[in-house]
Amino acid sequence: MAVSYEKQKKIFKLDTEKSTYLIGLSPEGYVGHIYYGDRLNQNVDNYLLRMEEHPFIPSVNKREKSAFLDFYPIEYPSGGVGDYRESCINIRNSQGCMGSEFFYTSHEIYKGKHKLEGLPASFGTEEEVETLDIHCHDEILHLELLLSYSVFEKENIITRSVRIENCGQQEVRLEKIYSACLDMDNEDFEMISLHGSWARERHIQQGRLHYGKQIVSSARGESSHQEHPFIALVTPGTTQKQGKVYAMHFVYSGNFTAQAELTQFDSVRMVMGINGEEFSWRLAPGEAFQAPEVVMTYSGEGLGQMSRSYHDFYRNYLIRSSYNHKKRPILINNWEATYFDFDTEKLLDIAREAKKCGIEMLVMDDGWFGHRSSDDSSLGDWFVNENKITGGLKNLVDQVNEIGLKFGIWFEPEMISPDSELYKKHPEWAIQITGREATQSRNQYVLDLSRKEVRDYVYECVAAVLRSANIEYVKWDMNRQLSDMGSTYLGREDQQELFHRYVLGVYELQERLVSEFPELLLENCSGGGARFDPGMLYYSPQIWCSDDTDAIERLLIQEGTELIYPLAAMGAHVSDCPNHTVGRVTPFETRGHVALSGTFGYELDITKISEEERSMIPEQTAMYHKYHDLIREGDYFRIASYRENHLYDCWASSAKDRSEVLVTYVQVLGQANCHSRKIYLDGFDPDKTYCLEGTDEEYTGELLMKAGFLIRDMRGDFQSRLYHFIVK
Ligand code: DGJ
Repeated sequence: MAVSYEKQKKIFKLDTEKSTYLIGLSPEGYVGHIYYGDRLNQNVDNYLLRMEEHPFIPSVNKREKSAFLDFYPIEYPSGGVGDYRESCINIRNSQGCMGSEFFYTSHEIYKGKHKLEGLPASFGTEEEVETLDIHCHDEILHLELLLSYSVFEKENIITRSVRIENCGQQEVRLEKIYSACLDMDNEDFEMISLHGSWARERHIQQGRLHYGKQIVSSARGESSHQEHPFIALVTPGTTQKQGKVYAMHFVYSGNFTAQAELTQFDSVRMVMGINGEEFSWRLAPGEAFQAPEVVMTYSGEGLGQMSRSYHDFYRNYLIRSSYNHKKRPILINNWEATYFDFDTEKLLDIAREAKKCGIEMLVMDDGWFGHRSSDDSSLGDWFVNENKITGGLKNLVDQVNEIGLKFGIWFEPEMISPDSELYKKHPEWAIQITGREATQSRNQYVLDLSRKEVRDYVYECVAAVLRSANIEYVKWDMNRQLSDMGSTYLGREDQQELFHRYVLGVYELQERLVSEFPELLLENCSGGGARFDPGMLYYSPQIWCSDDTDAIERLLIQEGTELIYPLAAMGAHVSDCPNHTVGRVTPFETRGHVALSGTFGYELDITKISEEERSMIPEQTAMYHKYHDLIREGDYFRIASYRENHLYDCWASSAKDRSEVLVTYVQVLGQANCHSRKIYLDGFDPDKTYCLEGTDEEYTGELLMKAGFLIRDMRGDFQSRLYHFIVK
């Protein structure tokens, strides 16, 4: 039983295999937070709510209610009535005043988990997940609040979401609605977050909490290159193997806020939800609003355990694609090979050469439609450009299939170019503030997806192309952030709903796509990795990680991404050198080893690279076939980080039964006059003996993990090696 309720003490107990979460009710019905941490197996109590320390408990003495509200560890704080820490919900009443207060009314505990209407969310059967729904009520505004907690025992995950319904007669305005809050005593916490930029996504950042609010957020309309909807609080000295970790990750692809606040009483409030900036939602009588899901985990065994919990959880309970547990075809994408300069013949040349090397799919990237020959036109005109694709799309796809490759295609469905037939017909479909020229980014505007006719047009364009030929993969790109937030369709009162309605529109489109084409391999992308988030993962089993394909830069990007995402979710390709983004030259082998940890594919003109490099591709494709099941389904162990040591990087994929372990080692910089490097491996069964493939060396798992393993004979910069250990 993952969820239980102790009636006398009014305590809810949520148990995973390794953690316990306790919720308690105050006499008034405030839903308090008692504990989150290592699993508790004995009787529990609610003394951690510190009720007896407080002289002004509202039901006993009202004269200092605010002092109570401002310290009480609460599950879901509302704004406006005296808790001055960050609130999770702000509601403005019909007179224009902001304030609400929610009290427990009832609860349900049930096996399984309900869907969240219109939103991506985790799922599970009645055997896999148990849910606690706590119902609360604001009796002045007649609002019903539902706090949902779903417990995935085996994965040590608790998901949270919030729904509010207006059961009164008056319209109210929802000005903020976060999805989760965690009030804890400070333990000298440090905060980990992922920050970045275009081509530099999800770099790990860690720093000590200081008094006040530390925020990561996006107000760009997408989860963004710059910040990521993830934070973790860790105790000082936390490593891969030890330390306490409290993490939250948001299943949402738009504006978000993730925040930790260190308060006057040395308590910490950690919150996550839709960014309140430029958000306001009209809640008419009878209407409800569903906030997206937060995925929480606690690890008492350091960051490694946190990563593995998230990986297992996303693989089993969020990614729904039929490709989730299947090998993905090795693709070659023509973007870095040709950019916009391609035609049927060029693509077929690439396909023929690719086939010889063991590549399995050709992806035609940007530039095949309208009159697009640079990034300045035609978005919205999803009609094949027959000057380039002579003979039409079906002819090209058929020929690629005849060569023996699958075919994939690129779209950027959410966009409209000012230079397009679509814009001539429907300038009002672009997001814009009437009377003000909208800001262009990459020469394009964003379509107003709050509008059904726009969504229908976009969907029909994409679907018609997919129906017209044997297309087995789509790369869904999105190359600009949102600005000029105005809709010619929404009324004055609803304009601040546009950011969220846009995200709901994207979700609706992708839902339609994967429903009509369930076997399609969908890869999301946003100018690289600006919309790499769990919301997108619900629709696509893989997301393009970054436009930076340099093997060394990728070490940092992939380390940050792997911190929470399963390896096979990361779009990763071998590209040409000097690398188009950083100009660095790295060995072809290293590029292959780094890309192997992701989906694996190629992004180069295979007809133009050197014979030496081309001749290495069959070996690399064979390597992918050999290891991909292990990488996709195995446990991830971070062994060493180039971010920390500035010299080398190392990680491992270990079979769930510990029967084999693949260690990837990258020597970023060589050093003079030094011995072989000793590293402590991880992911082995200490009691088993392993053979190192290709050698006659044998080691026990215990030796490799406790005494260490020697990296021998590596010379030079940017070198890499795979070590495959197989149990004897
Ligand atoms: C950004 C993507 O990340 C690239 O891979 C490529 O598809 C371009 N857009 C095309 O415009």
